[in-house]
Amino acid sequence: MKIIKSFVSESIEETIKIAAALSKIFEPSDVVLLEGDLGSGKTFLVKELCKIWQTEDEAVSPSFSIINQYRGTLSVNHLDFYRIEDVSELDNLGWEEFLNTDAVTFIEWPQLVEKQLKLYYKIKIQFNGQKRKFTLKRFEE
Ligand SMILES: Nc1ncnc2c1ncn2[C@@H]1O[C@H](COP(=O)(O)OP(=O)(O)O)[C@@H](O)[C@H]1O
Ligand SMILES: [Mg+2]
Repeated sequence: MKIIKSFVSESIEETIKIAAALSKIFEPSDVVLLEGDLGSGKTFLVKELCKIWQTEDEAVSPSFSIINQYRGTLSVNHLDFYRIEDVSELDNLGWEEFLNTDAVTFIEWPQLVEKQLKLYYKIKIQFNGQKRKFTLKRFEE
């Protein structure tokens, strides 16, 4: 595991700038795990990246749908496993089919699947009031 970058944001505007910096890092078929408490800004970050990549539809939270897909200059798969209680529920979703596509796959609440992944990024968001710290890490075998 190596830490690639960390960013601090104290406002929405600064978070949008962080999204812009992150948008230059990710490439088709990258997998990005998003870790952070409820309300830390995981979905917000994906929404901003979708704006930057000009997706056909505006991103919305996948916490009910579990999987949303967007076509853009870089396409996005947005997964959210918050409501998944057991890995067996994930088998029925066929979520792994989303990994080797031309899209970047973002996963909120990825704990259940992290062990199955070999090559991925992780963005950890720590927040306290208006202050947020985003740490980008790269995991390889
Ligand atoms: N600096 C900031 N960066 C990101 N989000 C912020 C910031 N300040 C306030 N917010 C708000 O915090 C909320 C984060 O919610 P969301 O992205 O849905 O969190 P999560 O998906 O991690 O549960 C959004 O309503 C967003 O507008
Ligand atoms: Mg969310």
